[in-house]
Amino acid sequence: MIKEKIEKFLNQSAKRCGFGEQKLSISFSSLPQVCDFQCNSCFALAKTLGKNPFEIATMIVENIEKNDRFVFSVAKPAFINIILTDKALEEEANFYLADERGGVDKHQKSEKVLLDYGGANVAKALHIGHLRSPITGESLKRLYKFMGDEVISDVHLGDWGLQMGLTELQLFEDGKLDFYFDGIGEEPKITLEMLNEAYPKASSRKKVDEEFNAKAEEWTLKIQNKEEPYFSIYKKIREVSVVQIKKHYSELGANFDYWYGESDAADYIDKAIEIIEGQNLCYLSNGALVVDVAEEGENIPLPKKEGEIQRYKNPMPPALIKKQNGAVLYATTDIATILMRNLADKPDRIEYIVDGRQDLHFTQVFRVCKKAGISPKGQELVHIGYGTINGSDGKPFKTRSGDTIKLEDIINLLIEKASEKLKSNGVEFDRELALQIGVAAMKFGDLSNNISKDYVFDLDKFLAFEGKTGPYLQYTAVRINSVLNKADEEGGKIKMCSEDERNIIKAIFKLQSSYETCYKDKSLNGLCLATYDLAAAFSTFYNNHRVLSEQDQDKRKSYISLLNLVKKELALALNVLAIDVPKKM
Ligand code: ARG
Repeated sequence: MIKEKIEKFLNQSAKRCGFGEQKLSISFSSLPQVCDFQCNSCFALAKTLGKNPFEIATMIVENIEKNDRFVFSVAKPAFINIILTDKALEEEANFYLADERGGVDKHQKSEKVLLDYGGANVAKALHIGHLRSPITGESLKRLYKFMGDEVISDVHLGDWGLQMGLTELQLFEDGKLDFYFDGIGEEPKITLEMLNEAYPKASSRKKVDEEFNAKAEEWTLKIQNKEEPYFSIYKKIREVSVVQIKKHYSELGANFDYWYGESDAADYIDKAIEIIEGQNLCYLSNGALVVDVAEEGENIPLPKKEGEIQRYKNPMPPALIKKQNGAVLYATTDIATILMRNLADKPDRIEYIVDGRQDLHFTQVFRVCKKAGISPKGQELVHIGYGTINGSDGKPFKTRSGDTIKLEDIINLLIEKASEKLKSNGVEFDRELALQIGVAAMKFGDLSNNISKDYVFDLDKFLAFEGKTGPYLQYTAVRINSVLNKADEEGGKIKMCSEDERNIIKAIFKLQSSYETCYKDKSLNGLCLATYDLAAAFSTFYNNHRVLSEQDQDKRKSYISLLNLVKKELALALNVLAIDVPKKM
């Protein structure tokens, strides 16, 4: 890529100057009106060599191999400024146009990554809290693949916890499951509506009705022990729920290789506990099985007064892996899942895109697995914790009546709002199209924030057709396509005829380098911004030039190729962002 090409000139010169093998590096200029790139390495180099930085920079620039692509100059105190000539910009542009990866290099080393995202809970309706995981997960997967990794995605459904017992018990108490227990009447059909009613009801009852809660715990254990009829009913509930989950994820454009759930790790639980026990890592605490995971400086008991509960400095409670009644917990299934994944896929990294508020859980799980050797030494276990989606009041987003908003309602809202926009553009109602635009709006609104930060859910802002939004990117791509469809000739060599073209190529440099930044950060905000900047640079060009009616044939052909280049670079970026380009807008 361009950066490496320029760095090579600098390093060769440094060698020629007798400074030995150097790794001088450049970055995008902080003063784009002055130069395109800058090298700040001379300060450090001067220190090591015990020389004056300005002299070092001057010597390097003076000894650069003569060339007609990069202009190097020294700026006080000891920066090297680099400007690209039109020749260099044209060479790069024409190369990117011909290259199927748009000039973006793959990593030399490919890793095998297991990406755990989605994480919907069976029997519960998906809600806003589950939105960031499939959106980010899908994009990170595409980014990793683009950079050369082998990626396996697993939805890891929540299907082995207390919500199962709660839902089943509630259905039973509402008289919906009699058939399974006394065989009387007809086998009932478990429907989504039934689940949507049963779980919320059970969940609020649980908080006030101790007896009900205890019974739900018992039922959960029966399900986990695969006792009948509890287990068969459970399987039916799961099936109905998964149909709905699949529908929602497909609307969001999130795809998975594995549709596993916590329950798929059930067969590995005993084995995992055996491994942990075999190394004397666990013990009984008030009847429950726990593993200590605190490291030095953590979980230090604070002085307490009579009758107070014990508090800790840097709390790091033991991981709970089996309840008193023998039921397993969230941590247990996650530990068993790591065992399962290491027996089946042996990934180099396992990454979890899960709410940042679950950080303690993952720290505990990872430490147990590392201590027990369930995760091998070189394997990276990463929790990519995302921030909360807030309302305009800065608190977690709620509907007017104070409820969490369901994904179903969000999707309907997106379709409704996108349709209004389209209507004002003279496009008649088209559900698919509205969904495409609405989802793009939400994705960009989400991904353009750093993954770990909270953001405000503002659909009207996300859906604007101008500015830093998903629909603006779609609109730019649609506009390019429509011009190219009208062009009845092939493009030619791209030439730099004005500042507008230069700015486009420079925006492409930034876009290209943002893939690597995002890869390192495990967050897509940099790519969102760089994609927007390219779209904006293109819009400026497009407003200032007439493409198809340009009289100069070479120029016209150059413009057509330039459009093809922008189209390609946008398509690559939008593909990573999992944003579709609509047919019209
Ligand atoms: N079902 C979980 C939840 O709703 C998310 C699962 C995330 N993945 C994992 N391996 N724990 O919070």
